[in-house]
Amino acid sequence: MKQRITIAIDGFSACGKSTLAKAVAAQLGYSFIDSGAMYRGAALFFYRKGFVSEEHMDLKGIYSVIDQLTLSFRLIDDKNCLFLNDENIDEEIRQAHVAAIVSKVATIKAVRVQLVKQQQEMGRLGGIVMDGRDIGSVVFPNAELKLFVTANVDIRVKRRFDELKEKGIPQTMDEVKENLIQRDHVDSTRTESPLVKVDDALVLDNSFLSKDQQLNKVLNLVSELIKP
Ligand code: DC
Repeated sequence: MKQRITIAIDGFSACGKSTLAKAVAAQLGYSFIDSGAMYRGAALFFYRKGFVSEEHMDLKGIYSVIDQLTLSFRLIDDKNCLFLNDENIDEEIRQAHVAAIVSKVATIKAVRVQLVKQQQEMGRLGGIVMDGRDIGSVVFPNAELKLFVTANVDIRVKRRFDELKEKGIPQTMDEVKENLIQRDHVDSTRTESPLVKVDDALVLDNSFLSKDQQLNKVLNLVSELIKP
């Protein structure tokens, strides 16, 4: 077993995947990629071009500009921030106008093909923790460790609500819940790379686990895998 492994973390929205993935990567000295941020970045790009809103989606328009979609992560003050060309869009991709359309954009095959290619390139050398919906199934089907993270829906709503509140993004608990349920539905029923638990993924229900407990569980699994 090689020492710098690939760790795929999939699961529903707002179940703490990114927080866990970031902490695992920091402990192991691996890179961390939030693939959801990339779908949000793509959604924002098409939204600004006027090709997608809550009410409509212009696929022809999207295809016509898809080659201009250039996303990258850059380290700003120790934080991995998403850039669209030279613009830091890390804050805007968390806003409600992006949350409202991102699932729809993530159903488009051409968008997925482009982002998956970039994600595979980022993980070419191993030593990476990536979280998303299709990481264990499509992006890194050979990942040494695959986790499927779940949590009770009301707990997820509360977590996302608190996160948005902390960022000063105004939304009611009901709005957050409606958006989460809607996204769960679209993410797990779409034709292209739906969210599924692959056979070789381990389920981690973190409804009642602290961040440290989750981190320790994953670090123990990693030590088992890389021990000589
Ligand atoms: O993890 P998140 O909530 O930031 O993800 C935003 C959206 O992107 C979500 O609706 C599902 C989609 N997504 C996806 O389809 N595939 C991924 N690998 C990651 C996210």
